[in-house]
Amino acid sequence: MSKNVTATAFVVAEFRAEENAETAPLYTDNVVKIWLNEETKRIAGEIAQNSPAAKEMIKLRTKYFDDVLSNQILAGCKQVVILGSGLDTRAARMNGESVAYWEIDDRATLELKASTLKANKVTANVRYIPGDYVQDDLIALLKQNDFDFEQATYFLWEGNTTLLAKKDVIFVLEQIRDNVKSFKLSFDYMSEKVIARTTGYQDINDYIDKYESMYAPWITGFENIETLTEELQLKIIDNFSTAELHQQYRPHRSLESNLLKFYFVCTLENAV
Ligand SMILES: C[S@@+](CC[C@H](N)C(=O)[O-])C[C@H]1O[C@@H](n2cnc3c(N)ncnc32)[C@H](O)[C@@H]1O
Repeated sequence: MSKNVTATAFVVAEFRAEENAETAPLYTDNVVKIWLNEETKRIAGEIAQNSPAAKEMIKLRTKYFDDVLSNQILAGCKQVVILGSGLDTRAARMNGESVAYWEIDDRATLELKASTLKANKVTANVRYIPGDYVQDDLIALLKQNDFDFEQATYFLWEGNTTLLAKKDVIFVLEQIRDNVKSFKLSFDYMSEKVIARTTGYQDINDYIDKYESMYAPWITGFENIETLTEELQLKIIDNFSTAELHQQYRPHRSLESNLLKFYFVCTLENAV
């Protein structure tokens, strides 16, 4: 994991926080502001200038994942695992009765997270697991941290798959499938066309080129999630492009970027 990949978490937090200022916000995140400072504002500003779509992508996915998670909690799910959690605030914001969270990210990010939450007197029922969920064996990491493999679990994997090698994305899905008895799992992903620069939209190619020169490269996309899930014997619960989410959540606003047509969120479950 490069330092730049880790730094993306701060940019995400900046964009996520902005929605709070809307008159009818898609979600409310009163915790996220504790991570923000002049430096994060400056870097996020540079990316936003390059493409306003970046902000909208984060806000739409935040709303979608918040809704799926809160429905999972309402349905009685007591275990939530957040992979590559960065500055995700859900363990503090969405802490239904006796819901336990596990968050995996690198040590520096998690230490900063724990200390900032403590300094701001924000509590969360969360276990931080420092490590790399690909290199360090996700299942071993969970085992060492009192995770119950027999209990229904919700996995959230937000803002990660594009940055990983495809084989690693598949490996993680297989690990969860083969070890967790009953789960639902949500993640976001790019169309493979975006990675291959074959969307036919020059603005998208320009966007990635600039993003990658400032930040982390986009490595992996999926053209057909049905094929992937069939191969892995998983079931699709939802699969939406963020353009569809935009239409649903913001019916009176026009789409700011073609990129939203190629950026997806999905929720899968194990086929029992
Ligand atoms: C773009 S940020 C997204 C953070 C958060 N999920 C969100 O959406 O706000 C990506 C995060 O995933 C973490 N990450 C990426 N690959 C990882 C891996 N293999 N193991 C652990 N953490 C990883 C990075 O350190 C970073 O904090």
